[in-house]
Amino acid sequence: SPATEGEYVSKEQWGSRIGVILAVAGSAVGLGNFLRFPGQAAQNGGGAFLLPYFISLLVLGIPLCWAEWTMGRFAGLRGFHSAPGVFSVVCRTPKARYLSVFALLIPLVIYMYYIVIEAWCLSYAWSYLTGDLMLGADPDAYNAFFDNTVGAKADGHVFGRGSSLLIFIGITFILNFILIYRGVAGGIEKFCKIAIPLMVVCALCVLVRVLTLPSDKVVAGLGFMWNPQPEALLNPKTWLAASGQIFFSLSVGFGVIINYSSYLSKKDDVVLSGLTASSMNEFFEVCLGGLITLPAAFMFLGVSVATFSTFGLGFNALPNVFAQMPAGQFFGFLWFFMLFLAAITSSLSMLQPVLAFFEDGFNLERHASTAVLGIIALTGSFFVIYFSKELKALDTLDFWVGTVLIFVLAMIQAVIYGWVLGIDRGEREAHVGAHIRIPHFVQLLLKYVVPVYLGAIFIAFCYLNV
Ligand code: PFF
Repeated sequence: SPATEGEYVSKEQWGSRIGVILAVAGSAVGLGNFLRFPGQAAQNGGGAFLLPYFISLLVLGIPLCWAEWTMGRFAGLRGFHSAPGVFSVVCRTPKARYLSVFALLIPLVIYMYYIVIEAWCLSYAWSYLTGDLMLGADPDAYNAFFDNTVGAKADGHVFGRGSSLLIFIGITFILNFILIYRGVAGGIEKFCKIAIPLMVVCALCVLVRVLTLPSDKVVAGLGFMWNPQPEALLNPKTWLAASGQIFFSLSVGFGVIINYSSYLSKKDDVVLSGLTASSMNEFFEVCLGGLITLPAAFMFLGVSVATFSTFGLGFNALPNVFAQMPAGQFFGFLWFFMLFLAAITSSLSMLQPVLAFFEDGFNLERHASTAVLGIIALTGSFFVIYFSKELKALDTLDFWVGTVLIFVLAMIQAVIYGWVLGIDRGEREAHVGAHIRIPHFVQLLLKYVVPVYLGAIFIAFCYLNV
């Protein structure tokens, strides 16, 4: 019968049901919701983007998220927490572990650049406290501030050589590793339980501030972001971007959820927890991210916002916006502090799967795994900082790892769930401990539609790109 082989009790367990939901939501809600989503939507059809976006959410995102929760717990009950273990136990062959390399590589690579942007957020929050970021309306002042903060331009490196930034990178790094070291319940879960409610409060304050600016401006700003450009729907890139955004945002297809859910027990409800965490993410993304970042930028900067890169939008355009609105210093602080919290709850979830791999795969103790991981992550970030010559490089890395590779991994996971574990087994496992049922057609979606849908977009995209 389902899950009865699970005599094994893992050393690590989540402390509470709400705790694990908040931890997964913490992973999902991040810079992707507030910076990446508005950028993607604006570049890919504005309001029309929501169509492929919600189709991807319903057809790919939520079903795959359930599949990941199910496979993760399935493997966790048998003593496996890292992707190689999960893949081997679900596929019943140790060879399957080779398929899981992406599930370790993707979070690790994303971590290496994500952490730097996390440090930017902390540094910007600090600059609001000190008042340094209230620079008036001239866009050049913000470009200069940014270049100065991240230590850019002199020799063409724009990513993080600023000496004061190194302090913030250091703080961010240490905080990440302290929390990881404390374990899933004692570190990640405890932190998320405080951070998420705090983020909601901060983001709602900023939203109210933005929406109570003069109403003609508000309407124009919302219109800029959301006016639909239906012709974008004919471009496969729009569909790739929409599903890429769904995966990035929900943290699906990264190897993160299979790891987090491997610390669950038979009593846990993976169906409801998965749905709740995903819904929280959508609230943050569409209602908060979608209504704040780009509309606010447009209100003050006009069409020039279209020329900003995703990160330029967050770090050059928005500070200018805050400087021009009443009480901007306070709201600017709230915003960047909120971004920092959102980022750290996400970056923790990029580390934990790799940490679990060192613990499972090499039998390392927690302190040894944390140390090894720390060295690898630090070295990687160092390369990102020193060798990315322009901000666009970041968008490029983000595209290849954050969109394309995730696709591949999502495809592998869908095939493993639908065809190797099998949807009958999967459906039974998912419902162990569940209070609500997943409609049966979702299993059929996972088996037939998801692989074909992913494959079709991917092929169309490759074909058009060559
Ligand atoms: N979901 C996060 C966001 O929207 O910012 C990003 C993310 C989290 C990416 C965890 C990768 C990951 F492993």
